[in-house]
Amino acid sequence: GSHILSVEQFDRADIERIFQVADAMAPYALRRRVTRVLEGAILGNMFFEPSTRTRISFGCAFNLLGGEVRETTGFESSAITKGESLYDTARVLSGFSDVICMRHPQEGSVAEFAEASRVPVLNGGDGANEHPSQALLDLYTIRKELVSKDRGIDGLRIALIGDLKYGRTVHSLCKLLRLFNNIHVTLVSPVELAMPEHIVEEMREAGHKVVITEDLPQSISSVDIAYSTRIQEERFATKEEADLYRGRFRLNQAIYTQYCEPNTVIMHPLPRDSRAGANELDNDLNQNPNLAIFRQADNGVLVRMALFALVLDVVDQVDKCSRDVNW
Ligand code: CP
Repeated sequence: GSHILSVEQFDRADIERIFQVADAMAPYALRRRVTRVLEGAILGNMFFEPSTRTRISFGCAFNLLGGEVRETTGFESSAITKGESLYDTARVLSGFSDVICMRHPQEGSVAEFAEASRVPVLNGGDGANEHPSQALLDLYTIRKELVSKDRGIDGLRIALIGDLKYGRTVHSLCKLLRLFNNIHVTLVSPVELAMPEHIVEEMREAGHKVVITEDLPQSISSVDIAYSTRIQEERFATKEEADLYRGRFRLNQAIYTQYCEPNTVIMHPLPRDSRAGANELDNDLNQNPNLAIFRQADNGVLVRMALFALVLDVVDQVDKCSRDVNW
């Protein structure tokens, strides 16, 4: 098995394969069938930054394949606070895990850890750099949402909104979109929180049309997907600095109704910031059938099951180790 550190390691055939395996995981994710294909295997789930979805859905995905999960949450519960290096931590933990998922606030930290690890390492987010499993589940969701409209990913029109400087999910998603054709990307952010220039350049080199704007209504008026993101407060020097940008690009039902084409799909990697003054994605959208944010989270389990099955090379055995359930 190999590590999953960046979406740049994938080609289009890899993506198709991951999505095909994710589709096949549905009966297990829905608990209509159980499989024990990873019985006896241990996932080391190491999250040195807060996480709800990524940590728990990686853990659930592993459990759904029959494996067990051991968790580290936060630096406080780790010997890293005693000065232990990532190298030593990786050498030790990879001795008693079959695969490791890791989130860490520092860019490149997961790759550094992986280099010392004796088992595959999956990047659950390294600082503002990348969040590959999120980008895969986002793209998987986009594909599913557009299929019902008889569309594929090629030719996609997408607006990415919010903190595009520190938002690692949108960095990985933009890199992944380079594998497809004729994508129209509109980047909506405060100028100070713009998408890193090299990512914009690489999308243009891939032949995509990239528009950069601060005009939210205009940007969402002709897109298939409006993808909102949170101001990544934890990457700013102070909370006050983050406050300067919070709530700048709010999407709510009234704005959606006034400006969006019918059936524009609304996405967000979550968590959305529901505190007063933030609300980048208002709760009044909760009844909007095109709000796909919880479908994204659901799809995350399928995609993460697929990643484990592929990395641990058990795809062909999943069904053989399974039975129907009738709970
Ligand atoms: N989307 C995402 O990464 O959420 P968590 O921070 O809760 O894992």
